[in-house]
Amino acid sequence: MANILITGASSGLGWSLALRYGDPEATLHLVARRVDRLQALSALLSDRGARPILHGIDVRDRSEMETLARRILEDEGPPSLIIANAGVRGPEEGNGAEAMRLIFDTNVMGVLNTIEPFLPAMKKAGHGRIAVIGSLASYRGLPKAGAYCASKAALAAWTDAIRYDAAPRGVSVSLINPGYIATEMTRNNPYPMPFVLSPDNAAQRIRAGIDQGRDRIAFPFLLLVLVRILALLPSRWGDRLLRAASKS
Ligand SMILES: NC(=O)c1ccc[n+]([C@@H]2O[C@H](COP(=O)([O-])OP(=O)(O)OC[C@H]3O[C@@H](n4cnc5c(N)ncnc54)[C@H](OP(=O)(O)O)[C@@H]3O)[C@@H](O)[C@H]2O)c1
Repeated sequence: MANILITGASSGLGWSLALRYGDPEATLHLVARRVDRLQALSALLSDRGARPILHGIDVRDRSEMETLARRILEDEGPPSLIIANAGVRGPEEGNGAEAMRLIFDTNVMGVLNTIEPFLPAMKKAGHGRIAVIGSLASYRGLPKAGAYCASKAALAAWTDAIRYDAAPRGVSVSLINPGYIATEMTRNNPYPMPFVLSPDNAAQRIRAGIDQGRDRIAFPFLLLVLVRILALLPSRWGDRLLRAASKS
């Protein structure tokens, strides 16, 4: 029976992922700080026959995340799937040390706090899947989002490294790199968001990619191509293109 942990389930992509995985009989451990939002989601999931279990925890709190993992492992054994989704965009001027600390605490350390306490038990059991929510913003530093882009680039490198160790022990690891999604995070973005997706559409693509056992799931395709070209261009040309795009 599916036993799934999703962080950042109180809104946006995490909320839609919880609904996508809310199959009858599935146990869903949902983590976020806004418990009232988790309760609203829980009612929807229970109506579908799923078994939501709510955890009002801050993923930055290592000791609380370790206690959660211990409890789940004791009661139910290793999860069949962990989706480390909780993340923040940070301040509008996101290149400085303060933004870096703030964003890395959640987007990088929060992901390690989510996954690491489960890894030894998953490897011992020889099964399970880990999915890390990165971003197409990881391919190149974008204006005023240096800390956010760097956090997602760090996650991409870390995810590759743990996949290398985990795969021979039966644990699969997927890196998910979505483009723009219309969520609370992007609601007040002052710039255009090409090919923006609904959270439900993004969650559908993610579940399909995970079901196919893919190591890397990046979408939408056209934006992936654009960011890859941007990353390959000489940096001055890339800067010029970004300046032109910000004026249009
Ligand atoms: N939106 C996009 O365009 C986009 C594109 C690519 C990747 N992503 C990634 O997708 C993920 C979800 O983002 P979203 O767009 O769905 O944004 P969102 O609607 O703002 O959701 C962020 C979620 O993370 C949770 N969260 C944040 N800090 C937390 C903490 N310290 N402890 C526990 N939970 C925390 C929030 O819950 P609480 O506030 O209740 O704790 C919320 O449920 C993020 O990793 C983001 O970087 C988003």
